[in-house]
Amino acid sequence: MVSRLLSIDEVVQATGLEESVLRFYESEYPAKLPSKILQGDSLLFPFQSIQAFQEIHDLVTTGATAPGRQQKTFGRVIAVTSGKGGVGKSNVTLNLAIEMQRLGKLCLVLDADMGLANIHLLAGMLPRHDLRDLLSGKASMADLIMTGPEGIGIIAGGSGVLSMADSRNEERHAIISSLAEVEEEADIILVDTGAGLGSGVRDFLASADEVLFVLTPDITSLTDAYGLLKVMHQEDMPPRPLYSVVNMVQTLKQAAEVAVRFSACAGNFLGLDVKNIGYILRDSSVGAAIAHRQPYTVYKPMARASCNTRNIAKALLKNELSAGATTSAFGRFRKMISSQQKKTEMRMKSA
Ligand SMILES: Nc1ncnc2c1ncn2[C@@H]1O[C@H](COP(=O)(O)OP(=O)(O)O)[C@@H](O)[C@H]1O
Ligand SMILES: [Mg+2]
Repeated sequence: MVSRLLSIDEVVQATGLEESVLRFYESEYPAKLPSKILQGDSLLFPFQSIQAFQEIHDLVTTGATAPGRQQKTFGRVIAVTSGKGGVGKSNVTLNLAIEMQRLGKLCLVLDADMGLANIHLLAGMLPRHDLRDLLSGKASMADLIMTGPEGIGIIAGGSGVLSMADSRNEERHAIISSLAEVEEEADIILVDTGAGLGSGVRDFLASADEVLFVLTPDITSLTDAYGLLKVMHQEDMPPRPLYSVVNMVQTLKQAAEVAVRFSACAGNFLGLDVKNIGYILRDSSVGAAIAHRQPYTVYKPMARASCNTRNIAKALLKNELSAGATTSAFGRFRKMISSQQKKTEMRMKSA
């Protein structure tokens, strides 16, 4: 049976959804839509697309799948990154996970800072296994998950052995591929990527659903973060939500100035939309908590830094698209890598 083919305008009419919404669903949920069909020189939608779009819309707006339409959901993978080190990335990542867990989300933190893995130290934990055991085959990704403060999951990094300079592509790709195994276990996966432009950082950025930049009022934090954003842009990383948080600010005004400047550069020079989702005041409780080997949101839940972090957690959850991503972020990355490998192999064969 040949089914009727529809133009985008007809799908707009039939579903009552705007064209921009349909285009967005097309890019985000390709697996849930029937393939378009070429007729003449235009691609048309099969008639079944109407129902498929409506199902996606239900899922996105209610966060629930209707009976009989059960499907897997994957955690939101949010990479926390910065242009330079020492901006508070690891502290923000860990404490953000704790606050989101307190708001009812199952959170997992992955310490992917290949240079200075310290999330476990900030959480006051002694890992039995870390990423090095995964790479040597001694442990699976699931074995690596420790239960941290408030019940968050923590995967400790492997400092030293995987120093930034030596971290090999295959090792990183093995880590990211194994993450697909645990992606369904958590609602939110926060990845502390470490700082800088290295491929160690960029791979984790490429695999994430969303990227959060930690900035500080220090001008080099801004220029280095912009440099990183520019590299992401030049590498044609697919578009994804980008956020900024300004840490260690003295005043709200200062936070706003930094955030506006970063968003303006991103918008004016790269055409990228970076949304600021909060700030954290410079607060002596952060240092005091580290000295006590506790995350600051646990050591002093009512401290200014803790309250600020809670607001960021709320803002991130407000930006939630649905109950969970419908495609696996790390799975997508795995596919991307294997297709790159195939291309390289073909090039080598033909050379
Ligand atoms: N809001 C804050 N107020 C005061 N000190 C902070 C704050 N955030 C981070 N710090 C300090 O900055 C230092 C670097 O933090 P860290 O999380 O290790 O940064 P990164 O992971 O970016 O290298 C730590 O010593 C920490 O005490
Ligand atoms: Mg760090």
